[in-house]
Amino acid sequence: MESYIINGGVKLKGKIPIQGSKNSSVAVLIAALITEGTTEFHGIPDISDVSDCITILQCLGCNVEIIDKSVIRVNTAGAENGKIPDELLCRMRASSYLIGALLSKFGICDNIISGGCDFGSRPLDLHILAMEKLGAKYAQTEYGELLSAPQGLHGGEISFPVRTVGGTINAMIASAKADGITIIRGAACEPHISDVALFLNRCGADIRGAGSDTIVIHGVKKLHGCNFTVCSDMIEAGTFITYSLLTGGDITCNNAPVSQLGAFIELIKDMGANIETGDNSVRVRPSALTPSSIYTAPYPGFPTDLHPQTAVLMSLADGNSELLETVFENRFRYLEPLRSLGLKAEVCGSKLTIFGNTVYKGGKVSATDLRGGAALVGAALCAVGTSVINEVSYIERGYSGFVNKLRALGADITAHK
Ligand code: EPU
Repeated sequence: MESYIINGGVKLKGKIPIQGSKNSSVAVLIAALITEGTTEFHGIPDISDVSDCITILQCLGCNVEIIDKSVIRVNTAGAENGKIPDELLCRMRASSYLIGALLSKFGICDNIISGGCDFGSRPLDLHILAMEKLGAKYAQTEYGELLSAPQGLHGGEISFPVRTVGGTINAMIASAKADGITIIRGAACEPHISDVALFLNRCGADIRGAGSDTIVIHGVKKLHGCNFTVCSDMIEAGTFITYSLLTGGDITCNNAPVSQLGAFIELIKDMGANIETGDNSVRVRPSALTPSSIYTAPYPGFPTDLHPQTAVLMSLADGNSELLETVFENRFRYLEPLRSLGLKAEVCGSKLTIFGNTVYKGGKVSATDLRGGAALVGAALCAVGTSVINEVSYIERGYSGFVNKLRALGADITAHK
């Protein structure tokens, strides 16, 4: 079990480069399955979710070369359909993209399992519904669930009743080579959805409207490989911005997707953050924080993946704040360890009331999920004394070179096996 030991109270200072987007990387790596030839990906973060995607591609017979930590070459010439260990599929939500990719490539998918952080139930019903609209048949067999389209997928009209990032990406992957035109209505608009569409279009697909709520896909017969650089990770940028504010530091995030962070920047400005934005950079200097209220919502709303880090920020404000979680039914598991470091907060349904003026004290806690773990690190960085954070493998699913980046900013953090 890996852990971090953090001596709190250091004001973090300096510049860090923001990594490529986790959620874009995992999607384009799996989407590469439906291309023929070689694709070279750039800007891929060195995180365990990416390593798991690489293992999945290798299980399916793809040749994957890691050129350097952020450049990965995928050749799909040897790809064959096959069962992937459930234990691997369960580690992340992105394994759900195999549904669209395997149906498109082989006309069958019996790897209908995914995992990811535990925020309550995270069903795949809307992914399956989308595949059915494209002509796939769903069956429950003695070995598990199965989707098949032996004659190939055809274009169709998909209307999502709720915004689903993964469902939208899966529908794009499945329809890129389907016969005819597909219209996705009620599509989610997150930046990595546009990034996946950009990648597939570079490979020869015809996908229009990604980033809006209606996406139109004209199926093409074949996709080729390409060179592709993933977009920057808005959640990593937001996380480090909270670390600057929590420690009274002065951090500049370079290569930051400033326009994607609109809702988050608006909130922290409202809370009194001293923030300066350039085209691709954000600098945050010491600031006196005032209380505020926010609700999470699909993009361009306030990102649910910055909810736990923002809760810690709000706990330092001079008064009480409110945070409403509207995307996931239960994103509050991180509160228990945070409370043992000093957080005072009450949950009523999906509403969190956070009491301000918190002084965190070092303690021994365990991460419960990726962003909750990042929030614990934030509390430990501004705490009085030493904290031990266990179960940091959750954090390393999504933050590349995390400890080294924090150390470069002056943090007193060490990783232990
Ligand atoms: N939903 C359904 N049925 C479905 C799919 C989704 O009911 O078939 C519901 C979910 O239960 C949830 C809502 O729809 O209440 C939205 O879920 P969505 O499908 O948008 O989320 P996701 O694709 O599972 C991605 C990110 C998450 C991020 C969410 C929301 C990836 C690999 N994961 O998950 O990222 O929180 O979108 O923005 O892209 C993270 O990076 O820490 C992370 C959890």
